[in-house]
Amino acid sequence: MSCSSVLSVSNLHTYFYTRQGAVKAVNGISFDLKTGRTLAIVGESGSGKTVTALSIFGLIDPPGKIVRGDICLDGCNLLNLSQTELRRIRGKKMTMVFQDPMTSLNPVLTIGTQFIETLSCHASITGAEVKRQAREMLKKIGLPQPEKIMKRYPFQLSGGQRQRVMIAMALAMRPRLLVADEPTTALDVTVQAQILYEMRQLIKDCRAGVLLITHDLGVVAEMADEVAVMYAGSIVEYGNVYDVFDNPLHPYTRALLKSVPRPGVMGEELTTVQGQPPSLINMPGRCAFLPRCEQKTWGCRDGVPLLKEVEPGHAVACHRAAAGKPGKVKLRELA
Ligand SMILES: Nc1ncnc2c1ncn2[C@@H]1O[C@H](COP(=O)(O)OP(=O)(O)OP(=O)(O)O)[C@@H](O)[C@H]1O
Ligand SMILES: [Mg+2]
Repeated sequence: MSCSSVLSVSNLHTYFYTRQGAVKAVNGISFDLKTGRTLAIVGESGSGKTVTALSIFGLIDPPGKIVRGDICLDGCNLLNLSQTELRRIRGKKMTMVFQDPMTSLNPVLTIGTQFIETLSCHASITGAEVKRQAREMLKKIGLPQPEKIMKRYPFQLSGGQRQRVMIAMALAMRPRLLVADEPTTALDVTVQAQILYEMRQLIKDCRAGVLLITHDLGVVAEMADEVAVMYAGSIVEYGNVYDVFDNPLHPYTRALLKSVPRPGVMGEELTTVQGQPPSLINMPGRCAFLPRCEQKTWGCRDGVPLLKEVEPGHAVACHRAAAGKPGKVKLRELA
């Protein structure tokens, strides 16, 4: 399989201009998603995962703005396209499963109408073929009576059913890039497994790239090839899932991993990440994780750490980890 790039994001900054000041929701992130790969973005609430996805789709509305950066899909910079050109790509070449399916489905149209409109708008196929594909896809993602589902309105479905409808629509387009924001949060584990299986099939069949946003580290381990850990609008660790899970370098990644049970490890004490994330307005000119970091040293005050590759393909934004040696001077309080 060739490893060409599907999506390349570089130095992306997306801010929201509020009365209190600029909220730096995405603050200079870069990553590369290759053909046939799944990149997971993880991080706590408010770290900028959804804003990253919305930026890629050109869906940042005022007071939000992409201030800087490039977003290239198959080598074409999406930030140079007009809204009409972007609309043509959105929903066909790149599709998204939103975090909240209720707000992304039209409440006054039946599921069947919305499915058919989406499919026929982007693909030149007959009405009968569209219906057949819609039924097939709904069945595949675990909705056994697709005829019934197609006649219903979004409010007549459960949250999990709506989420599956959204996923079916996104997969039916056989996109080059699928962005899935918490796609399995409202689903029970068996349905979740079925959907993850379908997503994997899509990657295989279409050689697509998947950007998977999730809180669920189990889903990351199951689905992703690479993982980007976001904290306060920045990527603080990036690498192959095995490298990051087996040898987490950033104290935040370590804390995240310690907060979930690991398969096969009995009696391990689970801990929460102490403290609160910083305000995204007036970001400190040093490591944003510093006040919560249990391994901070004096050197950690020396400016914002940049994401640096410390092992092949494994990068971290931490002064200490990048220096490769544990600091000797422990600080009681730096914040
Ligand atoms: N329209 C807006 N105006 C002002 N700030 C916003 C707006 N939309 C998002 N933000 C801010 O941007 C930051 C990142 O939000 P985002 O929705 O990307 O978080 P997230 O990582 O997806 O969190 P979650 O896991 O809860 O979905 C948050 O601090 C949020 O308050
Ligand atoms: Mg979100």
